[in-house]
Amino acid sequence: MTDRYAVFGHPIAHSKSPQIHAAFARQTGQDMRYEAILAPLDGFAVSVAAFIASGGRGANVTVPFKQEACRLADRLSPRARRAGAVNTLSFDAEGILGDNTDGAGLVADLTRNLLCPLAGKRILLLGAGGAARGVIEPLLDQQPAQLVIANRTVSRAQELAELFGRGVSACGFDAADAPFDVIVNATAASLAGELPPLSPQAFTSNTLAYDMMYGHDTPFLTFARAHGAAVTDGLGMLVEQAAEAFYGWRGVRPDTASVIAKLRI
Ligand code: ATR
Repeated sequence: MTDRYAVFGHPIAHSKSPQIHAAFARQTGQDMRYEAILAPLDGFAVSVAAFIASGGRGANVTVPFKQEACRLADRLSPRARRAGAVNTLSFDAEGILGDNTDGAGLVADLTRNLLCPLAGKRILLLGAGGAARGVIEPLLDQQPAQLVIANRTVSRAQELAELFGRGVSACGFDAADAPFDVIVNATAASLAGELPPLSPQAFTSNTLAYDMMYGHDTPFLTFARAHGAAVTDGLGMLVEQAAEAFYGWRGVRPDTASVIAKLRI
């Protein structure tokens, strides 16, 4: 029987995950089907239970269910526990395993696809919500010289800095006014077409500005480009986090470059 996987979200119609996993399955010869499921806002756990009952083997989880998925899991991978959020579920006889591949996806896109090693770099992370929290540990594992978290609500950035320790610091947007090598936008501002009030001094011609959003130019990327930075959207991160989930489920690593290139057309 063909193994079933799905992505749960609300909304979900825009999701590229079915296309990405179908490409991975074709490429690696895996017998699997991957669909998008719209879970009701108050019905995530029920939707997942129904999917498991119908033979589901694993799932991805997207907005707004990543924290709920973390609570739903019977076991968590260490990186999911530290992220406090889950984007990948595996179902087996022992129950539900929760993992988080977002941070690994970002790091893989930066270091392997964009050829931007992070060791010794000054990194500015914008935002202190779930998206930011999920990538902090994997960024720290790359041993940057500095990781600064800037957020509109400074206390939320401070909480994350205290939680992760290891030299992470926190500030408001205006206080991040020294040059950074890498600036990652993990705020929800791009979704609303808004620009966080950033200091132009954070950007130089040596800066790589990375927006986790993908699909179109965001005010953040426009601002970064205007101040001399190289810019990129989050499509590579999307494909890399999917590849990491696929590897967890199937034990095979798909080629990501060809899938990213195809999605860019
Ligand atoms: P997510 O899971 O996507 O991270 P979240 O937990 O609601 O969602 O967090 C949203 C993040 O985007 C927060 O850092 C939020 O800042 P606050 O903590 O001050 O609320 C940030 N954010 C949302 N809209 C923003 C805007 N217009 N400008 C700057 N930051 C914004």
